[in-house]
Amino acid sequence: MRFFSTLSLLASLAAATILENGQVRKVNFLDTKVASIGSNSTGWKTYGPNATEISYKGRWDSKHISWWAAPGIKFGFTGDQVAISFGQYTSPGVLVAYRLSGQDWQFTNVTANSTHQFVSRSTPGLNATLPSQLPLSFELRVTNWAYGVQLSAVHIASSANLIKIPNHSKTIEFIGDSLTSGMYATYEAFSSFGYNIGAGFGNVEFSVTAYPGICLHDANCWGNPRGQTYQWHQTSDTSWRASQIYGESPEKWDFRKHPAADIVLINLGTNDNNTANSVSNTDYLNSYMKFVADVHEVYPKAQIILMSLWNGFYATGNLRAERSLQRRDLGGILQHNDIAPQWHPTDVGHIKIASHVMQYIRIKFGWEFGATGPEVQHETLYWNDESGY
Ligand SMILES: *[C@@H]1O[C@H](CO)[C@@H](O)[C@H](O)[C@H]1NC(C)=O
Ligand SMILES: *[C@@H]1O[C@H](CO)[C@@H](O)[C@H](O)[C@H]1NC(C)=O
Ligand SMILES: *[C@@H]1O[C@H](CO)[C@@H](O)[C@H](O)[C@H]1NC(C)=O
Ligand SMILES: *[C@@H]1O[C@H](CO)[C@@H](O)[C@H](O)[C@H]1NC(C)=O
Ligand SMILES: *[C@@H]1O[C@H](CO)[C@@H](O)[C@H](O)[C@H]1NC(C)=O
Ligand SMILES: *[C@@H]1O[C@H](CO)[C@@H](O)[C@H](O)[C@H]1NC(C)=O
Ligand SMILES: *[C@@H]1O[C@H](CO)[C@@H](O)[C@H](O)[C@H]1NC(C)=O
Repeated sequence: MRFFSTLSLLASLAAATILENGQVRKVNFLDTKVASIGSNSTGWKTYGPNATEISYKGRWDSKHISWWAAPGIKFGFTGDQVAISFGQYTSPGVLVAYRLSGQDWQFTNVTANSTHQFVSRSTPGLNATLPSQLPLSFELRVTNWAYGVQLSAVHIASSANLIKIPNHSKTIEFIGDSLTSGMYATYEAFSSFGYNIGAGFGNVEFSVTAYPGICLHDANCWGNPRGQTYQWHQTSDTSWRASQIYGESPEKWDFRKHPAADIVLINLGTNDNNTANSVSNTDYLNSYMKFVADVHEVYPKAQIILMSLWNGFYATGNLRAERSLQRRDLGGILQHNDIAPQWHPTDVGHIKIASHVMQYIRIKFGWEFGATGPEVQHETLYWNDESGY
């Protein structure tokens, strides 16, 4: 199984055309680029990236650069326009998903040193919003796992205000590799089961700390210089982009400044177990034991689910119960058509994993589903309404 080959392949994959069963996917990416908007220029009110009304989802650093898989922002606003300026550390042509007030996702490519207008008077749904659904909300997610954006300003109508939208009270964190980060899925991280579980609940905050090719054990695997036992403590991931900005001194992630995870789902080991990377079984097991203890140290109350895609689920309690792993065997949920030729889940495979894991979490930990309709995964609506052919 080849899970990963080289970093340069990675970079080119990220910018490639989206393929669907080997065919170019028909997509509708809107052109949102506008001329640059200065601070508080006529008709606009400008907020800096540190405005407390902006909630950052996933990992962002002190320069407001996004990292890992499917990071995003969310805020409420009044008025009828939203534009965002992206800073110099934004990847070239990175595809972002965005939406107004929980309506279907739209996609657009953004790039460094540019301003994009996402909401205007002509945005469908803007006028249809009922007063009871106000304020309007705006969300944006980076779709690729290696690429990121740097937020430099948010602009809204001059007489309008940004509004803080409270966070959900429960938080889940995913720690994984290419499987959790959606490598080879059509919208990459945005199609991944990590994203699908978090967004699928509809009433939880989530963070997908996953990167293709990464090992659990701290070793260079498929060009990722460090393993998750080290990298999970850093704000940035193992990408080439991160090495260009931070070299070998990334910013540490300050867990105390963010809500503690209630559930941590770990899916690691596929790369440790690959002969291309020199990680012994003993190193892997020892690192796994230490890592689970480490996660409990950081989040003392978290429930940790160890997930092994091909064998089932294992849950550990919150009392350092590594040695009495509880096993829930859901083996056999993935069939032939859920695994793509590159040995990663298909879009439907990701959705299937997500729905099983969500049921597992509901049954095991009593988390009820809170989504009431908004789209979770874009462009997976296939149907037949032809009765005879
Ligand atoms: C936009 O992003 C998609 C997906 O990464 C890519 O296929 C396309 O080439 C990009 N377009 C531009 C104009 O950068
Ligand atoms: C824009 O104007 C508002 C007041 O209307 C002010 O609070 C804010 O700091 C200004 N933003 C910038 C970037 O100058
Ligand atoms: C945001 O940063 C600016 C400087 O760039 C500073 O003047 C301002 O006080 C900061 N605001 C908050 C809410 O931290
Ligand atoms: C929600 O949590 C995020 C991540 O810690 C944080 O950036 C944001 O300020 C929080 N939002 C609110 C409204 O408390
Ligand atoms: C963005 O702006 C910065 C600062 O002006 C500059 O150094 C950088 O080359 C620009 N990047 C691009 C892609 O234009
Ligand atoms: C929303 O209302 C404004 C003002 O009445 C109008 O100019 C605009 O065309 C409407 N937008 C849509 C999408 O219908
Ligand atoms: C992968 O895991 C299997 C089952 O535990 C083990 O027999 C094998 O030696 C491992 N391979 C590598 C390269 O770690």
